[in-house]
Amino acid sequence: MNMLDIVILAAGQGSRMKSSLPKVLHTIGGKPMLQHVIDNAQTLSNSQVHVVIGHGAEKVKTILSEQSVEFALQAEQLGTGHAVAQAMPCVSDNGVVLVLYGDVPLTRSDTMAELVKIAERGEFGLLTVNLADPTGYGRIVRSDTADVVAIVEHKDASEAELAITEVNTGILALPSALLKEWIPQLSSNNAQGEYYLTDIIAMAAEQNVRIQAIHPGTEQEVQGVNNRMQQAELERWYQLGQAETLMLEGVSLTDPARIDIRGEVSVGHDVSIDINVILEGKVSIGDNVTIEANCIIKDSTIGSGSHIKANSMLEKAVVGENCDIGPFARLRPGSHLANKAKVGNFVETKKVTIGEGSKVNHLSYIGDAEVGAGVNVGAGTITCNYDGVNKSVTEIGDGAFIGSNSALVAPVKIGAGATVGAGSTITKEVDTEQLAVTRAKQINLNNWQRPVKKS
Ligand code: UD1
Ligand code: CA
Repeated sequence: MNMLDIVILAAGQGSRMKSSLPKVLHTIGGKPMLQHVIDNAQTLSNSQVHVVIGHGAEKVKTILSEQSVEFALQAEQLGTGHAVAQAMPCVSDNGVVLVLYGDVPLTRSDTMAELVKIAERGEFGLLTVNLADPTGYGRIVRSDTADVVAIVEHKDASEAELAITEVNTGILALPSALLKEWIPQLSSNNAQGEYYLTDIIAMAAEQNVRIQAIHPGTEQEVQGVNNRMQQAELERWYQLGQAETLMLEGVSLTDPARIDIRGEVSVGHDVSIDINVILEGKVSIGDNVTIEANCIIKDSTIGSGSHIKANSMLEKAVVGENCDIGPFARLRPGSHLANKAKVGNFVETKKVTIGEGSKVNHLSYIGDAEVGAGVNVGAGTITCNYDGVNKSVTEIGDGAFIGSNSALVAPVKIGAGATVGAGSTITKEVDTEQLAVTRAKQINLNNWQRPVKKS
């Protein structure tokens, strides 16, 4: 099998983004555009990705440092032909080259594969699209027999050529040997004084290399992002696609236009998700889970039958089956809830295990704690896990009852079945089945005379 070299152009500045971040690092669905291109490209077999970098090269390299891509530096942006030329020394001699763009994030891998197949036959594969408004794009010039013979850039086009609505997406594939022969022949003798990659089309036509133009399934697949409006447009389209995927997998969405997925989500059947929910990172949702409005769920697992009520935030949390969370709960990293646990409103948890059927229903902070099964943590309970320097652990045994408004000063243990009276500050271990109360005893004075104002 021949080598497939994939050259991704990502050297341009993207000045219309008005940003200090290189354009290709701006995101769609929470992932840099360039990463979308790389991920889709890397599904093609026997391939090596080369990224041509220029503006913001160091930032791009840093973001991609862990990945198996090669970089070619284009120090000065002298055109798309010049950009491809920078990668050529690393391109193998008798394979196929596929050219992609870091700011065209949503090209599907089957579209790429179709172009590659054409190139593997020794022909030239070109991705073109018909646009109602072709302004700015290179026009596809065809002969009387409808064969593609050239691409003319907008700025170089005649009146007649400007009327052509079939345009160049820039995405193409061809045998490496031909590209290596043609790249050195490019000149910058045109309206923009740039080395146009598109000039190789005419060279191919001249040498009777068959040029096969194919079209993408949708316009969005070849849509480039030059400003934040186009980014937002593509983001919405991408999100709608994600929403459709979820619905096909058995999720009911109250409004497919009001969910945002910024990562990878796996779902069971009969999941229901209300409006304005954001799912980020790796999220796994079991069967029959209900997620109410305005929840943000990041890198978390939610077991079957659980109910996440409105306005809750989960991050790196593991929720068991049939749990009840929220409304207004915040599960921070390391929160592990066993089945049937309940974490209610205005409760914050962090680095905690909460046993089966245990409840922390109101206004609490439970951090660095191990809570057994069947525990009731009363309203307003705080684990005082931090002494200003160190974090310490609170252990609460099975079946314990923590009265409301208690402060558990860690490190401390509350035994199984123990009771803590409301309003206590617990600093010492409480044994199994013991009652601990630390609040001052109540005194009642009869006929108490309130002070009166001095005249
Ligand atoms: C290019 C095509 C045009 C096509 C259009 C589709 C050429 C000459 N023209 O035009 O036919 O319709 O794309 O959007 O190829 N880049 C570099 N280095 C450079 C120049 C560009 O890396 O020196 C990168 C840019 O970052 C961008 C891409 O190549 O991602 C396209 O460059 P751009 O200047 O937008 O090309 P267009 O003039 O729009
Ligand atoms: Ca462009």
